[in-house]
Amino acid sequence: MSPPNTRKDRGAAPCTLVIFGAAGDLTRRKLVPSLYNLRSNGLIPNEFAVVGVARKELSTESWRESLSKDIREFATGKVDDAQWAWLRDRIHYSPGNFDDPATYRRLGELLADVSKKQSTGSSVLFYLSTPPDSFAPIVKGLGAAGLTKDADGSFRRVIIEKPFGRDLDSARSLNNDIRSVLREDQIYRIDHYLGKETVQNIMVLRFANGLFEPVWNRRYVDHVQITVAESVGVEGRGNYYETAGVLRDMVQNHMLQLLALIAMEPPVSFEADAVRDEKVKVLHAIRPMSPEEILVRAVRGQYGKGLVGDKGAPGYRTETNVSPTSATETFAALQLFVENWRWAGVPFYLRSGKRLPRRRTEIMIRFRMPPQLLFRDTAVGEIEPNRLVLHIQPEEGISIHLKAKQPGPTIVLNTVRLDFDYKTFGEPAAATGYERLLYDAMIGDSTLFHRSDMVEAAWKIATPILDVWRSLPPRDFPNYAAGTWGPASADALIQRDGHHWWNGDDDNGGAK
Ligand SMILES: NC(=O)c1ccc[n+]([C@@H]2O[C@H](COP(=O)([O-])OP(=O)(O)OC[C@H]3O[C@@H](n4cnc5c(N)ncnc54)[C@H](OP(=O)(O)O)[C@@H]3O)[C@@H](O)[C@H]2O)c1
Repeated sequence: MSPPNTRKDRGAAPCTLVIFGAAGDLTRRKLVPSLYNLRSNGLIPNEFAVVGVARKELSTESWRESLSKDIREFATGKVDDAQWAWLRDRIHYSPGNFDDPATYRRLGELLADVSKKQSTGSSVLFYLSTPPDSFAPIVKGLGAAGLTKDADGSFRRVIIEKPFGRDLDSARSLNNDIRSVLREDQIYRIDHYLGKETVQNIMVLRFANGLFEPVWNRRYVDHVQITVAESVGVEGRGNYYETAGVLRDMVQNHMLQLLALIAMEPPVSFEADAVRDEKVKVLHAIRPMSPEEILVRAVRGQYGKGLVGDKGAPGYRTETNVSPTSATETFAALQLFVENWRWAGVPFYLRSGKRLPRRRTEIMIRFRMPPQLLFRDTAVGEIEPNRLVLHIQPEEGISIHLKAKQPGPTIVLNTVRLDFDYKTFGEPAAATGYERLLYDAMIGDSTLFHRSDMVEAAWKIATPILDVWRSLPPRDFPNYAAGTWGPASADALIQRDGHHWWNGDDDNGGAK
């Protein structure tokens, strides 16, 4: 379905943003600084207001004051006083418990008042920046108070934070709950990973260039590796992480989205549903693994103490709010297959972990060897295949690894790297990563948000793995030292197919 107003490089239409969970961490660290950046870039209209809702007893004035301090700490650049004053004067607060119907009545009254005073019209974007068990109660509360009805020419949309469910059943039940109140086109399930410039550029690389499409298939691609490596541990978020683990926190959502972007067919247009239709087909083409397959094609790990760089790092089980006998995985590696005509037989290896040697998100596409090795009788060692590497973070760019003849009288081949660094476009404006997503939700572009079928398709892949892991508690945790690339079983998973993990150029060429 076409959004009511579409992108034309213009500011959003008049609206009010209501943040549930306004006294929380995400609001002050990311959401308010993003709004400030959007306003600085001229993308927020004059007729705009923010209303915060949380149970903390604050007045509008005290919330404004506390955000005025926070913005100095969390803004991504120097704060312009006039620009901040503009936003500050449009910020309001309404205390209340999410379970209390009176909260929504008061909110309705405040919205009417704000709309009159700040000419915001009746369009409202609700942002659920709350613990996940509040998502359904809030949507129901809004519905019961009549706050989700959009009249002609205005919108009522709801952004829902992650995690969206913790397995297939809970995701289905959450979808049912919120869809009993909202139409699918009113729901914006956020994935901040998809707001990253370099992730958005995957589609541009593939579909704005004719060069890659002919080789983007099983005939030329040998395998694909997706790595999301973090050097940090749980950073004081032990409470949350103990209930999640890396499969839920990274793989089910962000990494399967990266895989879908790499493997999807060209959409018929860049309309949100055309793109999402193609992405969901990829997820449907990944057959959920049987328990026997999971034992062979899925690996989990948990870090013990070790060295990250030259700094000592504690083991996961000794982190704050983590059980000393925790079975939570901080590392996972999978071998997946997209069973369609384009990708049949091409393994996609996914790997993510905490306390790995470096922070690095990369997608490496390894091409097949040339059909015949013409150089085998020359002074040429082993020929490495071509690689295309998409660097997502912290490096942002694309590199192609080719063989070239080293200058000189004999034939000596070496690998050269053709590099594109996004910085050559000019230093990007400092951003929190939420600007694009907030702006898209304001203008009604849901391309970068998850649709209900995408979420459920991804849980269909992840849930059987979680089930097997739960029923077979790990006996070898911790099984990798902080500062290493994960357990030996992850190496075995890929070496079985004659490959190696690609750890980046600085790791000796890595993949074969
Ligand atoms: N923080 C991040 O960087 C980050 C990143 C990605 C995703 N997220 C997601 O964003 C969401 C919010 O995260 P957060 O870190 O901001 O959480 P948080 O710091 O715990 O904030 C949650 C807010 O909701 C309020 N709240 C909770 N239950 C309530 C209820 N029944 N009635 C009224 N208010 C209630 C809390 O009030 P009290 O303070 O009184 O409890 C607090 O203001 C979560 O879903 C999280 O998974 C966060």
